[in-house]
Amino acid sequence: MDFRHQIVSAGALSGLAADALLVVIHGDAVDSSLDAPIAAAITDAVAHGDFQFKAGRTLYVHRPAGIKAARLVVAAAGGPTVRAFKTALAQGLGQLKGLGAKHVAVALGNAGPVTEQHGEALATAASDAVYVYRHTKPSAPADSALNKVTLVCAKADARAAQKGLARGQAVAAGVAAAREFANRPANHCTPTYLAEQAKKLAKEHGLKLEVLDRKEVEKLGMGSFLAVAQGSDEPLKFIVARYEGAAKTQPPVVLVGKGITFDTGGISIKPSAEMDEMKFDMGGAASVLGTLRAIAELKPKLNLVCIVPACENMPSGRAIKPGDVVTSLSGQTIEILNTDAEGRLILCDALTYAERFKPAVVVDVATLTGACVIALGHHHSGMFTADDALAEQLLAASRESLDPCWRMPLDEEYDDALKSNFADMGNVGPRAGGSITAAMFLRRFTGKYRWAHLDIAGTAWKSGANKGATGRPVPLLTHFVLSQAG
Ligand code: BES
Ligand code: MN
Ligand code: ZN
Repeated sequence: MDFRHQIVSAGALSGLAADALLVVIHGDAVDSSLDAPIAAAITDAVAHGDFQFKAGRTLYVHRPAGIKAARLVVAAAGGPTVRAFKTALAQGLGQLKGLGAKHVAVALGNAGPVTEQHGEALATAASDAVYVYRHTKPSAPADSALNKVTLVCAKADARAAQKGLARGQAVAAGVAAAREFANRPANHCTPTYLAEQAKKLAKEHGLKLEVLDRKEVEKLGMGSFLAVAQGSDEPLKFIVARYEGAAKTQPPVVLVGKGITFDTGGISIKPSAEMDEMKFDMGGAASVLGTLRAIAELKPKLNLVCIVPACENMPSGRAIKPGDVVTSLSGQTIEILNTDAEGRLILCDALTYAERFKPAVVVDVATLTGACVIALGHHHSGMFTADDALAEQLLAASRESLDPCWRMPLDEEYDDALKSNFADMGNVGPRAGGSITAAMFLRRFTGKYRWAHLDIAGTAWKSGANKGATGRPVPLLTHFVLSQAG
């Protein structure tokens, strides 16, 4: 899709050449700055009970009188925030995406500046609206005709609009990639597939790539990662991809993504209901690769390393058993009390491996705990760090990108839960505070650098009728990485 800004002077909106005009409006009346034919269409619809100035409401007018575009869609935002703008956009684009319009011009119906954030919101909302999963569903609806989206703005806002659109386009491509990886079923999206996708990405963007297989992982001594992988016939992959945008001496940002391509729970097997959703258990890996894609396109002056430990968690004659003790790459031993707490077992070795890059900061991303879904639901990702400044940077990135996260506690007191009589630690604590003890477990492997953990168990995908991956937290991560430049 092509995203551009379009400078339109006041009063010229109705003369705009586009297949459709999408006007996002907030407040409870038409603004005097809006062109008369558009204002008239809205006022008439309100009078006939066809439209209300209420968030979520949309109006569709075909061949609107006095307007050059063949279609007019009005979407009510309910408020002046960019978040409200984006939600209304999604509604309006939802109306348009199945129609014949190729070029839609989007305008803010209220006087007010168009900002970078509006541009980014438009690009990401449009890309999200037209995404269709079809890899294993040939009968999926045809691709939307929509291929060009312009953001109407005043001359003074053109630079900001363009900058936001460009960033949004890169973020959107990262989100779309992450959605596609995660949506593909586990018999398609295997560790090998993830490695191939990383290879493709590296080739297209000139990135450095290393893919370690079982033998190399054994030689390194990643006993914890190996323990999870050993139950599956599907070969493990340890993926390391590097973007170099600054001098080699500059410490990199490191992202680590959980790449469990299917989580059965192992011998501590999960109940059957909704187990299909455990194909999304590589959502962390997907978002890390998606972010790498966005960053490779935006080319900031920094170094980025993405690490993805990828394998399946399966029960079998070779699978780990509750009570098994393994030695992690760090040398610390782990009593595996529950084989379903596998994410932390693969992440801990990746976090130790990250030390070799002498990172400026490490953020790991994982669909780690059901407990995080209970705590935060599906709106905020859980964010854990003992570093207040880092927490603030992640929160700022989440606000800018409209991809919310919420800081969770990580006090020393929670560490007691991991005591074991047979190893340096157990891999689970009690049910209470399950997302925190999971983070505390990871913390034991992160002493050598600044570190934060994102639990995306509630935000990486949607269940129900619209089941599918969201591509989160690619927007948050991209903004965070960009914020680390310079
Ligand atoms: N991948 C799951 C976490 C998960 C569960 C994400 C449900 C989204 C929805 C993870 O590997 C897991 O199984 N965690 C266990 C940990 C427990 C055994 C301590 C959990 O949350 O139940
Ligand atoms: Mn599990
Ligand atoms: Zn899992």
